[in-house]
Amino acid sequence: MKPDLKSLKIEAEKDIEEAQTLRELNLIFKKYLGRKGKLSLVLRSLKELSFQKRAKIGKETNELKNFLRARIDKKAKKIRLTSMSAKETRAERIDVTVPGKKLPLGHLHPLTQVKREIMSIFQGMGFEVVLGPEVETEWYNFDALNIPKDHPARDAWDTLWIKSEGERLLLRTHTSPVQARYMEKHNPPLRIIVPGKAFRHEATDASHEMQFYQIEGLMVDKDIAVSHFKAVIQEFFRRFFGRNLKSRLMPDFFPFTEPSFGIAITCLACGGRGCQVCKKTGWLELAGAGMVHPNVFKACGLNPKEWQGWAFGFGWDRLAMMKYKINDIRLFHSSDLRFLRQF
Ligand code: FA5
Repeated sequence: MKPDLKSLKIEAEKDIEEAQTLRELNLIFKKYLGRKGKLSLVLRSLKELSFQKRAKIGKETNELKNFLRARIDKKAKKIRLTSMSAKETRAERIDVTVPGKKLPLGHLHPLTQVKREIMSIFQGMGFEVVLGPEVETEWYNFDALNIPKDHPARDAWDTLWIKSEGERLLLRTHTSPVQARYMEKHNPPLRIIVPGKAFRHEATDASHEMQFYQIEGLMVDKDIAVSHFKAVIQEFFRRFFGRNLKSRLMPDFFPFTEPSFGIAITCLACGGRGCQVCKKTGWLELAGAGMVHPNVFKACGLNPKEWQGWAFGFGWDRLAMMKYKINDIRLFHSSDLRFLRQF
């Protein structure tokens, strides 16, 4: 019996058209073109036909085989393309409802936290925050503060000089020059604090750095006395440390104050028992202070007979050390995250 190639072609085309997956297409290939597929059976059955018919139908069957193979290949490509673009679309889709990834957040350096706290306490007591240059002139760092060139007190500050032509420049050894800069331009009454860096050519140890921070304070008015200073400082300690602390004023010497004193508190790193921070004394010096020297008023164009005032200079790294019981100042700039993450 003559095989019905036309119906086979229609059936196969319909199957190929309907195939959705490569797996289904593979089954269709086997069904028509496989070793036991429908077209292989047709070819095998040819021997029953006459020579002419065998040649004609054999040719038609091979043409149909090639035709179906091409159609299956084409469909396979189409299926592959559609599934790839489906995958891509899935990958590119943005689900706006998915909770966002949490990015690790840093925080302010402990010295910055402490600076802000100190500033806010003094601002609460009516002090204005003023800044000055870190590269300073010899005049403001020394001369205007009653420390002339030949004065031995200059040796107390191991100065880092900057090569310069004309006026001699240096990295300021303290924040006190800003007192002079401010008094030159502003008339009393004055109440300022000056946070900033200071630099000294010093060997470092547990309580000394080459680059450290100071907070300068200055209060000038008609009738200002040491008692005002004691009251302001005691109140500052109370707010900063959150309790009343034992503090003491000791006689000291600064050319720009008269009388001068040092302010120390019980060393909180050891509770006053004595340690490497307080050099076994039980006290840690936090500031130098005193009544503004008449010569400083004069250098700034103010009449010392008319105005009186006091000034102080705190090491704010040391305040931070006391607040957080840190036993080595060098930890602040060691960039050790195990240390910094504790704040
Ligand atoms: C001064 O620098 C004066 N300008 C302070 C002053 C201001 C006195 C106004 C009178 C009137 P002194 O060198 O003592 O003083 O430093 C003040 C504070 O800075 C010290 O008590 C200490 O807390 C801190 N300090 C000084 N040197 C270092 C250092 N190398 N490392 C860390 N802190 C320091």
